[in-house]
Amino acid sequence: MTDIPALNDLHIRITSGCNFNCQHCYAADWFNEKCELSIADIKSLVNQAIELGCKKVTFSGGEPLFAQDITEAMGYCLEKKLKVAIETNGVLVDKIIDGLGEERIRKVAFAISYDGNKMRDERYSHQVKENILKVANLGCDIRIQTAITKINIDEIDDIFQFSKENGIKNRCFLAHSPTGNGKNIPLFEVKEWLAIRKKVIDNYPNVMIELPDIFPERKKKKCGWGVHRCEVMPNGDVTSCAPITFNHREFVAGNIKQEMLKNIWVSKHFAEIRKIKQSDYELPCSKCVYWKTCLGSCRSLAYSNGTTLLAPHPFCQALYDAIKNNEIDESLLPDAELVHAWIKGIESSNFAPTDDSYSDIVKKQHME
Ligand SMILES: C[S@@+](CC[C@H](N)C(=O)[O-])C[C@H]1O[C@@H](n2cnc3c(N)ncnc32)[C@H](O)[C@@H]1O
Ligand code: SF4
Ligand code: SF4
Repeated sequence: MTDIPALNDLHIRITSGCNFNCQHCYAADWFNEKCELSIADIKSLVNQAIELGCKKVTFSGGEPLFAQDITEAMGYCLEKKLKVAIETNGVLVDKIIDGLGEERIRKVAFAISYDGNKMRDERYSHQVKENILKVANLGCDIRIQTAITKINIDEIDDIFQFSKENGIKNRCFLAHSPTGNGKNIPLFEVKEWLAIRKKVIDNYPNVMIELPDIFPERKKKKCGWGVHRCEVMPNGDVTSCAPITFNHREFVAGNIKQEMLKNIWVSKHFAEIRKIKQSDYELPCSKCVYWKTCLGSCRSLAYSNGTTLLAPHPFCQALYDAIKNNEIDESLLPDAELVHAWIKGIESSNFAPTDDSYSDIVKKQHME
């Protein structure tokens, strides 16, 4: 077992159910499956994950606060001295505030989604904002999470102004995975997302944008899918990436109701991910000077736009094509010289991809 990485970060998609039906939701294809992990499943899963090195558990879904046993499940993880986080639409937060009590709720890290009025159920927008402030006032670690799409683009000033005024960090995804309910929402064109990026960077220092590492603001650890993290779906399936798995079941490595987690963690699915090298990716990632920190950025986004897990990242592919076709106003680029150097590397026949595996790099990133 010595070469097997520690499973630091466990994500539990506790239920497939939700009290919303957001227009962009990648999980929507599972709403009718009506599956939910029981408290017995979760206790067993968490105990097994601790043996594999788990330090943090994040609850998500569907809507995790919609799940019957969510309070007990979070309480159990806190009892086991794990870091506990929840990713929620924020409507039902009173359930865990009351259930866990003041002392324990302060130990929970919240990511509350707020994407304005149009993509979610507008009737609850006011309540979600009130609950964000309620959780912040309790002293919990909190960030707002926002996906920007063509539906809510004209609401982003209101969203980011709200988080800025209240001193709350906001993590934003400048795209959506075109799957589930979001499959027919068109992605931004490269000119549009460069302009949105610039506007956000110039006006909202509290907003962290998720972008590939060619953009200088994005130099942080990657999620570490398959190496230090895995996700468990509402039916017990274990996967490297849930957003993909809501739509593509071939990413399932096993099921906790049939097998021990440790056997799944060492299975072929995870072993193959850990061996991936830069040269296995498609262009431009396979010849990108930023790969050693970026690792191809969010693979869920790349996969849902392409045909394989190692498909080109849509931002970088679009940026490359637009620059080659002289379609870009270079004042929108973060650093035009660096972008041209990146293109030169991709086109150079001498470029040598690194020999380090995906797993080596994730391990280093998460040890720092
Ligand atoms: C699937 S939800 C589950 C947790 C909870 N129900 C919520 O809304 O926060 C997790 C996050 O994924 C985001 N999301 C949903 N569909 C998406 C898509 N197609 N592309 C990108 N992000 C998406 C949501 O906005 C939310 O921030
Ligand atoms: S994004 Fe979250 S709240 Fe919205 S429908 Fe999906 S699971 Fe429900
Ligand atoms: S080309 Fe790939 S590795 Fe390079 S910055 Fe873009 S997503 Fe990251």
